[in-house]
Amino acid sequence: MTTLSDPPTILFFDSGIGGLSVYREVKTLLPYCHYLYCLDNAFFPYSEKEEQAIIERCVSICQKISQQHPIDLIVIACNTASTVVLPALRENFSCSVVGTVPAVKPAAQQTETGIIGLLATKGTVKRPYVDKLIQDYAMHCTVEKLGSTELVKMAEEKLQGNPIDPIKLLFEVKEWQRNLSLDTVILGCTHFPFLKAELKACLPQVKYFLDPSKAIAKRVKDLLGEPTQKTVKQNLVYCTKESKEQPSLLKVFKQFGFSSLRTLIIR
Ligand code: DGL
Repeated sequence: MTTLSDPPTILFFDSGIGGLSVYREVKTLLPYCHYLYCLDNAFFPYSEKEEQAIIERCVSICQKISQQHPIDLIVIACNTASTVVLPALRENFSCSVVGTVPAVKPAAQQTETGIIGLLATKGTVKRPYVDKLIQDYAMHCTVEKLGSTELVKMAEEKLQGNPIDPIKLLFEVKEWQRNLSLDTVILGCTHFPFLKAELKACLPQVKYFLDPSKAIAKRVKDLLGEPTQKTVKQNLVYCTKESKEQPSLLKVFKQFGFSSLRTLIIR
């Protein structure tokens, strides 16, 4: 077993700021770890991008960051990436790699009507990985899939403090509005927990909105244990593109305990 740094360094990776929904749960359980967060904003949104391109970017970005910081654990805080990139990352890194994938199993256990909605990106809903999850855990249920890129962009806007249009949001989920038996929705994109209140208002029949972040945090804590050093290290954010949003991005990340934002150029 490789020796962990004390405190360990955890790298979060997402296309944007949605991965913060996973990070905040991990940080609650492990407040003294050293955190790095990388958003691949140069390639955002991942939703409809080619799988191979996502795999290549994700591996090379994580490699580049690991040349600057020894990394003890990687969290791919992105369903669109996790459903394709985990084998390649595990081949290239000796540290633990934790993915974020749609909470199909808990949804199948929790639903009372047997009708589940999977709300994810356009890429995630098409992945064989997701079909396999449904086959393994939810064959007794009906799983309705809905892919949206717009919702990802809206979550990004909301987090950066910009208003979002409720009519536009309603339009994205309108095909589920009349499905009154739909009682469970899987939030299969890490951006969507930030839109939970708005989604609840559009789909009042839904009793459970499932987000795997707390389970992921528990998994990370089981893998790393509690650091003995209780000093707070500087948490850094990497982005892959300079943009005019930089100041508003940094403002968001500061609220989550990060101190500075650096740009990483990826060819
Ligand atoms: N947050 C991501 C996910 O969980 C990706 C969003 C995107 O860039 O399309 O799938």
